[in-house]
Amino acid sequence: MGQPSHAQRDWWRSAVIYQVYVRSFADGDGDGTGDLAGVRARLPYLAELGVDALWFNPWYLSPMKDGGYDVADYRAIDPAFGTLAEAEKLIAEARELGIRTIVDIVPNHVSDQHPWFRAALAAGPGSPERDLFHFRAGRGAHGELPPNDWPSQFVGSTEPVWTRLPDGEWYLHLFTPEQPDLNWDHPAVRREHEDILRFWFERGVAGVRIDSAALLAKDPALPEFVAGRDPNPFVDRDELHDVYRSWRRIADEYGAVFVGEVWLPDTERFTRYLRPDELHTAFNFAFLSCPWDAGRLRTSIDETLAEHAPVGAPATWVLCNHDVTRTVTRYGRTDTGFDFAAKEFGIPTDLELGTRRARAAALLSLALPGAVYLYQGEELGLPEAEVPVDRIQDPMHFRSGGSDPGRDGCRVPLPWLADAPHAGFGSGQEPWLPQPAGWASYAADRQQGDPDSVLRLYREAIRLRPVFGDGPLTWLPAPEGVLALAREDGAVCVVNLGGEPCELPPHRAVLLTSGPLDGGRLPSDTAAWLTA
Ligand code: NOJ
Repeated sequence: MGQPSHAQRDWWRSAVIYQVYVRSFADGDGDGTGDLAGVRARLPYLAELGVDALWFNPWYLSPMKDGGYDVADYRAIDPAFGTLAEAEKLIAEARELGIRTIVDIVPNHVSDQHPWFRAALAAGPGSPERDLFHFRAGRGAHGELPPNDWPSQFVGSTEPVWTRLPDGEWYLHLFTPEQPDLNWDHPAVRREHEDILRFWFERGVAGVRIDSAALLAKDPALPEFVAGRDPNPFVDRDELHDVYRSWRRIADEYGAVFVGEVWLPDTERFTRYLRPDELHTAFNFAFLSCPWDAGRLRTSIDETLAEHAPVGAPATWVLCNHDVTRTVTRYGRTDTGFDFAAKEFGIPTDLELGTRRARAAALLSLALPGAVYLYQGEELGLPEAEVPVDRIQDPMHFRSGGSDPGRDGCRVPLPWLADAPHAGFGSGQEPWLPQPAGWASYAADRQQGDPDSVLRLYREAIRLRPVFGDGPLTWLPAPEGVLALAREDGAVCVVNLGGEPCELPPHRAVLLTSGPLDGGRLPSDTAAWLTA
């Protein structure tokens, strides 16, 4: 085989990447849980959608205390999803269709059922097995207080990040007690993860998503966390960059790429992870959190491009994922931004408005320079579901004392067939989360035949997207509340976020619109792609 062409090598710079939450994608064996068989059966759908890669949320052996982000064995597929052999087949079959695979590595913590943690519990205080984690004596006369009061990484949780064992020691878990944090100062932890990376690269995966990528390193003195005081004892520590430099050398051997889950408000600190010898890309949470407001979106886009330019990394554009409120719901509310702290039950939502905006936002993000992430169901315009309280499984809900609805509302099993049981998610048992009434009306088969559906819009937009080329973005003059951008030698995208219809800028042809034009004018909450 010859050298890969430039376009093949740099696919990730402008890819459309589809996120598969396996548990809720398609149930191939009828047990109510999505699985690899379900994904394999739907690969033609994904190919027809036109995506370049699939990012799979963790599919490893897991007690599922946090949707698979509690991994018991990074080299085994959870039996609810399938087998390693099936994963290998899936990776190969997808590649045949021109679709690459990205797996999700969770390096900050493991499951409490992971052999390392079980061994650490059995070995007792002072043992080398415990050195792989953060075990400490407590404070107080009898060690009855946790070693410190670091805040939980589940926003809204008031639960401590330390759990005490019968032998008196405490262990650290930034998330649930079933997710003990690893000690990244330990060489065995580093070696193990380098080996896990190779394991998946050897199986043909083209990339790795890094969970909680800025949290791994901890100040070993475990000082108290004080808001605003640098350095933070557990977020974004300088030592981390050395870890990612060694990971990059491994990825380069395989031509594979990273996308980091790096939630950091400080953009300069954020882009340090994207230096040429570190991660290739990171999720753009600023864009994901941005309200539906022309000025705010334009600033978010400008800042994103400006901060990525010096390190030469491409931007990513993300509207939602398995942790946040689905886009059509968010945009149908008074507060159209996303903030974990603002989540609550029963927020009034105008889904018709939200859907119109989400369609326009799809055309906006697909017109921007960089890679676009699409979360399963986004292409169907699925709203956030209100999961009945007695069916909620997400630990975020429980750890908030029940005030936060949690993240299950964006994880409800997909509707595939309007007229089949469980909307075609699977033909056997009830799906693991209930599908709300009316879910079937979003079914992929129904949307397939409807030229005005969200699915057809996404398909058409992904097909046409190359008309934007790979040149830089320039803003065109536009009325208040309207965004108009052109790509060098490419097409133009206009989005009307104002209250009144607006004129389209001079153009040769209208390529695609997110909704009908109004006598040649662009209605509010609508986007158009034009050739200049
Ligand atoms: C981020 C993941 O996206 C989320 O789902 C998970 O709960 C935490 N990291 C902990 O792994």
